[in-house]
Amino acid sequence: MLSNKLQAIVLAAGKSSRFNTGNTKLAEPLCGRPMILYPAKMLEELCIDSTFVVGYQKEKIEDIIKNNCSNPVHFIHQEKQLGTGHAVACTQHLWNKEHVVILNGDVPLVTPDIIENLYNEHVKANAAISLVVSHYTGTDHAYGRVIQDQDGIKIVEAKDFKEEVYDTKCCINAGIYIAKTEFLKNCIDKINTKNAAKEFYLTSLVEIACKKDLDIVTFYAPYDKIRGINTFEELWAAEQIKRSQLIRYWMKQGVRFQVAQNIHIDVDIEIGAGTTIGGGVHILSGSKIGKHCTIRKFSTIDNSVLKDNVEIFPNTIVRDSQIGKNAKIGPFAHIHSQSKIEEGVEIGNFVEVKQSTIGKQSFAKHLAYLGNAEIGSHVNIGAGTITCNYDGIHKHQTIIKNNAFIGSNNTLVAPLSIGQNSFTAAGSTITEDVPENSLAIGRAKQSNKENYVQKLLEKLQGRSQAITVNKSQESCETLPLKKEKKEQEL
Ligand code: UD1
Ligand code: MG
Repeated sequence: MLSNKLQAIVLAAGKSSRFNTGNTKLAEPLCGRPMILYPAKMLEELCIDSTFVVGYQKEKIEDIIKNNCSNPVHFIHQEKQLGTGHAVACTQHLWNKEHVVILNGDVPLVTPDIIENLYNEHVKANAAISLVVSHYTGTDHAYGRVIQDQDGIKIVEAKDFKEEVYDTKCCINAGIYIAKTEFLKNCIDKINTKNAAKEFYLTSLVEIACKKDLDIVTFYAPYDKIRGINTFEELWAAEQIKRSQLIRYWMKQGVRFQVAQNIHIDVDIEIGAGTTIGGGVHILSGSKIGKHCTIRKFSTIDNSVLKDNVEIFPNTIVRDSQIGKNAKIGPFAHIHSQSKIEEGVEIGNFVEVKQSTIGKQSFAKHLAYLGNAEIGSHVNIGAGTITCNYDGIHKHQTIIKNNAFIGSNNTLVAPLSIGQNSFTAAGSTITEDVPENSLAIGRAKQSNKENYVQKLLEKLQGRSQAITVNKSQESCETLPLKKEKKEQEL
C-alpha cells in the first residue's frame, strides 16, 4: 500500500506575487473550492500522511485545510520564502517514511492516478528522484525546462533559460516529485542560490542526482492535468478545464445543459437525472438538485437543496435554503438564510423570503417580503405583503397558521400570529394577533360623499380664479387653498 512507504509534502508558503492581489493564490477558489484543497483532498483520498509548508498568510491556509479535511495533517512554518528547496528543507525533521512525494500547492488539476503511476515507476527503477514532466507549447517561457543532453538531465528555471543555449522543444517540469528519503537527507543541503532568482530551487535536486549517477525517472502526464497556476489568466484557463470536466460528467448522468459554455458549476454539488439547466445559471458548492428539475436562465443556486420536479424561473437566487418537491420559484425571487419552502409552494416574481418556512401548497405569487416568518400550509399571501420583522434592534417572528388568507398590500407588524382559516382585509396594517376563523381589518374606513364632485369642481375653479386675480399679491393667494383644505379634513 502506497501510504505505508510514502509521505507527502505540499508547498504552500509562497507569496503569490504574480497574482498581484496581496492575497495568497492558494485560497482562491477554482470551481468553488480553494486551490490548496485540491492537493489536500487528493492526498486524503490516497491516505498519504501530509505536511503542508505554510508561510505567507499561513492562518488562512491552515484554516481552509482544517475546516475541510478530516485526516490530521502537519503544518510547518517557513518563515522566509527562500525558495521551493528551502521549503522542503524546513520539513526534514518529519521525514520518517521510505519515500517522499513533493507537490507544489498550485497544481490543482493533478489526479491520484498520476501520483500512483509516478510512485510505481519510481520504485520499479529504484530511482533517487522521479518527476512528472509534460509538453507545453506556450511561448512565455513559464515553467522549469527539463534539459536532457549528453551531460545528463537537469531542470533550468524560466528565469535562467536561454533560447540560444537550450533546445526550446524540451519538456517542462510539473512540480510533482517523488524522492527517496535517503537521497533527500543526503542532498537537500547541497542546493544553493546560484541562479537568477537567488533562491533555493528544489529543482536543483535533479542535477545533483544526475551528477551522483543516481537513477532518475521522468514520467509524462498530459499538460491539462498538471497546469501550474501563477496568474489569474492561468487560474481562468484551469477553471474552464475543470468546469468542462464537471459538465461532461453531469451530462453523462442525464443532466441537460442548454448553453453548456456559459454555465458556472462548482465541485461538491449533485444534480439529479432529467434536470435541465438554462443558460447563465450558477450552481455553487454545497447544492443538491433533485431529479427532473428545471432551472431557468440566469438563476443562482448556492449551497441549497432542491427536491425533485422543482421549477426555478429566470433570475432567481436561492441561497442556503431548501425547496420542496414540485415547488415553483421566481422569476426574480430571492430565497435565502435557511429558508425552507415545502412541497408544491409557489413563490412568484419579486418575492423575498428570508429565514422563513413556507408550508405545503402555500402561495406568495407577487411582490412580497417574508422575513422570520413561519407560514403554514395552504396559505395565500397577497401581493405587496410585508412582514415588518425588525424594530431597529431586534428581529421578531410572524406566524401564519394553515389556510389563512392574507389580503393584498398587508403590513404584518411582528411579533404577530394569525390563526388558522383567518382572513386579513386588503390594505391592512395588522398589529394585533388574529384568532382563528376571523376576519381582521386594519385600515382607515372609506367614506363616500355622494354628489360631491360638482361642489368640489366649483371650489377648485374658485381657487384658480383667486390665483389669477391675486397674481401680483402673493400674500393673499393662499387664502382660498387653506379654506378648501379645512373642508376636506371635515
Ligand atoms: C515551480 C518550479 C518549476 C515548475 C513549476 C511547475 C521551482 C524552483 N520551480 O515554478 O520548475 O515548472 O513550479 O508549476 O521549484 N513555495 C513555498 N516556499 C517558497 C517558494 C514557493 O512554499 O519559498 C510554494 C508556492 O506557494 C507554490 C509552490 O511552492 O505553491 C511553487 O512555487 P512557485 O513560485 O509557484 O514556483 P513556479 O515559479 O511555478
Ligand atoms: Mg507555480
